[in-house]
Amino acid sequence: MNTQTGALLHQAHMTTIEALQSLDELLGSNKKAPAMDDLLGRKLKQLSGILRSEVESHFAFEENHLFKVFINQGETGIVTMLTHEHQSILPLALQVADLALAASSAGFTDASWGEFKDAGAELVEREIFHIQKEEMGLLAAISAMVDPEIDEELADIYRREVG
Ligand SMILES: [Fe+2]
Ligand SMILES: [Fe+2]
Repeated sequence: MNTQTGALLHQAHMTTIEALQSLDELLGSNKKAPAMDDLLGRKLKQLSGILRSEVESHFAFEENHLFKVFINQGETGIVTMLTHEHQSILPLALQVADLALAASSAGFTDASWGEFKDAGAELVEREIFHIQKEEMGLLAAISAMVDPEIDEELADIYRREVG
């Protein structure tokens, strides 16, 4: 059974994966700091917005609303694991988002590119792994454990708070 909440989370996961893949390509194809132009500037701004929204609003929805439903049913294992992953991803994602935004107007220096490259590569790895886990385990757990009225409520909250 598909849930509304699962569908909303899935959509956001796909957007984030796409952004991370394009980040990965950017990092892989530039040993040295790439020259800034309009296209790259726009890409970096977009990346920064997607990363921020994922780790601020989407993570917050999962922790403050969805995971509470699991905890109420005694399912603490999956919640503990995913919450720990959020904690290890969030500061890194904000660092990459800030660097991307700063570079979108000022360009990269060799030093800021090095920092962006290291943090970006680590982020790609951690966050893709996290999303894959949620896609495999969390969405199925929502189907199995969240009844339709709660699903409706959660989906409303998601649309209101995350967008
Ligand atoms: Fe998620
Ligand atoms: Fe998550």
